[in-house]
Amino acid sequence: LQASPGQRPAEGLEIVITAGPTREAIDPVRYLTNHSSGKMGYALAAAAQALGATVTLISGPVRLATPPGVARVDVDSAEQMLDAAERAAMTADIFIAAAAVADYRPATAAEQKIKKGSEDELVLRLIKNPDVVATIAAGENAPFTVGFAAETEALEHHALDKLERKRLMMIVANQVGGGLGFDRDDNAATLYWREPEEQIRSERFDAQPKSALAEKLIMRIVAHYRSATS
Ligand code: CTP
Ligand code: CA
Repeated sequence: LQASPGQRPAEGLEIVITAGPTREAIDPVRYLTNHSSGKMGYALAAAAQALGATVTLISGPVRLATPPGVARVDVDSAEQMLDAAERAAMTADIFIAAAAVADYRPATAAEQKIKKGSEDELVLRLIKNPDVVATIAAGENAPFTVGFAAETEALEHHALDKLERKRLMMIVANQVGGGLGFDRDDNAATLYWREPEEQIRSERFDAQPKSALAEKLIMRIVAHYRSATS
């Protein structure tokens, strides 16, 4: 599974990766977000580039340097991420959604800074964001689409549910919470996919630096893409 030096199994492939959190505006100075560091998505982009792919990284706001040779598109909100993803997916062979997209956004972003009123309570109404990866997977001539599932419980159950519901080719599942997952340098994961004969298959990757895990995941995803399209 390890790539030998100089090996370029992803040569000739265009891979689009989403990474990081999204920011959903409440008013001009405030937003909703989450703890995603973007590290896994950036590690995937670096690995895909090193293995020979042409890589577009659609990134929410993170504090990370762009991996060498990677084209980065910066976005803030989920809607902007969808926009950039739809554009990039048109020519992509593989789409990997590692971003932690905010599920909801404020129903309206106030045009002016919200003032602290005399009320002791402020109610924020939220509406659902578009599902970026599901939209890409459902598109015409959709790329080979891979999602992530970060779960605090019932990992396999939720991951398989997302694999089906979002019509993904593969899903990378990882346990979060209790010091695992978000904003860490190490990660463990299980990759799930459905074989042509319908049964679910999986491969487990033990805890390791995100860079090492990313290389293995890209090798596997590219191998599955090649066998699915050959
Ligand atoms: N995802 C996405 N757009 C969204 C929400 C999620 O593209 N609006 C993608 C993520 O990038 C990830 C996958 O969907 O690849 C699963 O994300 P997750 O948050 O685990 O799934 P949800 O469907 O949002 O379910 P929940 O948060 O309730 O577990
Ligand atoms: Ca979610």
